[in-house]
Amino acid sequence: MNELIETLTTIVGKNHVLTGMDLDDYEQDWRRRARGKALCVVRPGSTQEVALVVNACAVVGASIVPQGGNTGLVGGSIPNSSGTQVVMSLRRMTTVRSIDPENMTITVEAGCVLQSVQEVVDSHGFLFPLSLGAEGSCTIGGNLASNAGGTQVLRYGNARDLCLGVEVVTPQGDVWDGLSGLRKDNTGYDLRDLFVGSEGTLGVITAATMKLYPKPAAQLTAWAALASLEDANRLLGLARRHLGSCLTGFEVMNRFALHLVDKHFPHLRVPMWREHAWCVLIEISDNESEAHARGLFEGLLEIAFERGLVADAIIAESLKQMHDLWHIRESITLAQTAEGFNVKHDISVPISLIPEFVRETDTALATAFPSLRFVNFGHMGDGNLHYNIQVPEGCDAKEFVQTNEERISTIVYDTVSKYRGSISAEHGVGELKLDKLVHYKSNVALNLMRAIKSAFDPRNTLNPGRVLKSNR
Ligand code: FAD
Ligand code: MLT
Ligand code: ZN
Repeated sequence: MNELIETLTTIVGKNHVLTGMDLDDYEQDWRRRARGKALCVVRPGSTQEVALVVNACAVVGASIVPQGGNTGLVGGSIPNSSGTQVVMSLRRMTTVRSIDPENMTITVEAGCVLQSVQEVVDSHGFLFPLSLGAEGSCTIGGNLASNAGGTQVLRYGNARDLCLGVEVVTPQGDVWDGLSGLRKDNTGYDLRDLFVGSEGTLGVITAATMKLYPKPAAQLTAWAALASLEDANRLLGLARRHLGSCLTGFEVMNRFALHLVDKHFPHLRVPMWREHAWCVLIEISDNESEAHARGLFEGLLEIAFERGLVADAIIAESLKQMHDLWHIRESITLAQTAEGFNVKHDISVPISLIPEFVRETDTALATAFPSLRFVNFGHMGDGNLHYNIQVPEGCDAKEFVQTNEERISTIVYDTVSKYRGSISAEHGVGELKLDKLVHYKSNVALNLMRAIKSAFDPRNTLNPGRVLKSNR
């Protein structure tokens, strides 16, 4: 293995092969649930270097864990505990290769941080709509590898929908230049769509061509308080009809989720949470003007008040207030972490069934574990809830999670399955949901997935034991 480290040093230079020192940033997952041990961290600076590194590892049978911002929530971006895996960090690859205003595309390297891509695109007068709480540190490569969702999926789709082409280094170390800017291409199997969402198990994404959108004339946000999820569902239907394609976000948050934000970040001044069971954040993007957007919102809220769907509401008065409201929503994950160990379920069910799903699952869990605290929030407009659990107050959170997570998640996922939902709407499978996937996905689907993995990566070089089990 020392020889491999020497070869890697020759390829990327000695400053970019990290060993022996504190590798916490690369070996520890964001949720601090798991810690691995890497043989080394290698930081290639170009596609050619990625290809040479992959080839060098494949030749000696070493496996590679591709890594971007390491913000993944399912333990898929850190090495296992063997001390033999090479973590390949793409974070040095941050070149914006080109922007094509007529084709409305941008081609960026995989290590570009999402927020920096949003900013570059904005400076060219366009919108890149992928938006999520980790955008200050997650990378485009990681977004694509995990097919990230976020808060504007309802209007613009997931990372997959925003991607027109990818450049990939295969597990054999070949470079596939699939950086097409085409919106139509039916020349056989869609390789791009296989790499997107493959969580680093089929290839290393080194660059991507992404779609741009016209920057809306105005974006406006409203915060509304509601009595129930049924009302949230009705309000969503009303918003769709009233706002049409101007509706870009519809996020729901329960009282306890907002209580945690208020408790751990009191300076954020969370509105309305004490008196109401649910709050929603609605965003519209308007191509006419802010005044037009405001008129649309006022019209929507007037009907919603008349029908008794909304108990209280505010429309952001300024850009600052709009950012502050979004900041509250994006802080729920951090507030949960501050509160202590927790159990996450990133599920989806048909939107119409969300209220029923939550009622049934809450009841089943409360019967089995009387003092659980429910943190329910997420992308209601996509049928995607973060049905998270905070352990009973006062108990040892780590111990409680270790002892009871399996039973809690089984109750949640059995109900998801009954409603024909998904046990991972946007975070992926990683390591966390390996066993669950085998249980809840059909054998036909699993066998097809295994066949794809062994066709692409017969030596199991890339991220073995993630998404699909392996004996490596
Ligand atoms: P990493 O965490 O480094 O890697 C994620 C996976 O992709 C791993 O399996 C890794 O091996 C693989 N990978 C990384 N880069 C490459 C590459 N170049 N080629 C091949 N494989 C690669 N996710 C959502 O979908 N929606 C949300 O709203 C959302 N909100 C979040 C909020 C917070 C506060 C946090 C911490 C996370 C959130 N996430 C969310 C999860 C996470 O940020 C995203 O999944 C993000 O897309 C991961 O990007 P990353 O660069 O950090 O990838
Ligand atoms: C979010 O939408 O904020 C994250 O995907 C949720 C999470 O941390 O569970
Ligand atoms: Zn989410």
